[in-house]
Amino acid sequence: MKLVIIGAGSSYTPELIHGLTQHHEALPFSQVCLMDIDERRLEILAGLSQRMLGKAGLSITVTATTDRRRALEGATFVNCLIRVGGMDARILDERIPLKYGVVGQETTGPGGMMKALRTIPVMLDLARDAVEVCPQAWLVNYTNPSGIVAEALGKHSAVRFVGLCSGPQGWIAAILDRMGVDPLRANVDWVGLNHLGFAIRVWVDGQDVTAQAIEAVADHWSVNAEWLRALGVIPASYLRYYYHRTQVVQEASAPGARTRGEQVKEIEAELLRQYADPHLADKPPLLAQRGGGGYSDVAFAAMRAIHYNTGERQIVQVLNQGAVDGLPDDGSVEVPCLVDRTGPHPLRMGALPLPIRGLVQAVKAYESLTVQAAVEGSKRVAMQAAMAHPLVPSWEVAKPLLEELLAANRPWLPWVV
Ligand code: G6P
Repeated sequence: MKLVIIGAGSSYTPELIHGLTQHHEALPFSQVCLMDIDERRLEILAGLSQRMLGKAGLSITVTATTDRRRALEGATFVNCLIRVGGMDARILDERIPLKYGVVGQETTGPGGMMKALRTIPVMLDLARDAVEVCPQAWLVNYTNPSGIVAEALGKHSAVRFVGLCSGPQGWIAAILDRMGVDPLRANVDWVGLNHLGFAIRVWVDGQDVTAQAIEAVADHWSVNAEWLRALGVIPASYLRYYYHRTQVVQEASAPGARTRGEQVKEIEAELLRQYADPHLADKPPLLAQRGGGGYSDVAFAAMRAIHYNTGERQIVQVLNQGAVDGLPDDGSVEVPCLVDRTGPHPLRMGALPLPIRGLVQAVKAYESLTVQAAVEGSKRVAMQAAMAHPLVPSWEVAKPLLEELLAANRPWLPWVV
């Protein structure tokens, strides 16, 4: 079995290699191939990967290449961790909207839209290569905005893929932890879009305990407790960017405030310095300061379910196909799925509760327009997408904001003139 990591120069790669050491009995990969366009980072990560696997006593061959098609040869699973434009582009995604009083965030709002526009063409190229070179392989995608990327892959490629995020697993664990409930007794209907998901029903021992779950987390959540009780469902922490947008913009615009990308750039530089140390053979504690902890558990769970055809229930991103009422069949959603050798199959979740329905529908429309803008290379559709986004208040704001964002992204968007 061959595991390919595209974008393996990512500082998250040790998380995945750690997963290999933890899950090797269940998923006995014999080869891991690291691919990146950045030779220096590739060399550092290949060295650390070798040391980590060696320390774990695993005879897994590690190879490294900058040639994507060569990397894909003979792949069983392809994990993707790319960041088109690197951390500097993320910083612009987060900074520019703030100038216009709009939330600036990696995956949410107009910043997330820019990340999608940069990323979708590269993901579709990767998918095309995978279909040609390793048609049996599964693409496990973590690259953000992963929900929008999932929709692009589902609509515009034949690749077999599963869209992942470590978020739902973390939020559900936090809810059950606050309730003091063993996860094995619980089931959570986590429904919505990536970074726009909600625990709409919480079950323990077959009983609906959603009201108790809300009470258990109310004073510890990322949205206001009074609002959480009124809302009646438990949102992903990213809903803070919608429900508390004024406060978010104020805090981020305060003198001296740094964006998350600015912070992560520093963490990454230090991580790479540590990774290059020939004595390091573990994932360092500093990696926990990145947001994607737990990613390898989610990735290995999905790969295991596919490889062994288990039909396990997992929350992943998939085309809706009627799972959630009122959303397009070919739009991506993040819902509980049964995952087997033919991939994820969404469970029917029915209608979204009215207090969240309109928001999810609006963001879905924005996401679908963003996919269309990226694929067609259309500024007109990009403007439709920006105006459809609930965080963009008006044409007067949208027009100059989008112009500035597109100009900043010209190096990745040949259609922007
Ligand atoms: C969470 C999100 C991921 C995101 C990450 C960002 O895990 O679910 O989608 O990539 O945080 O972490 P960072 O350290 O880059 O801010």
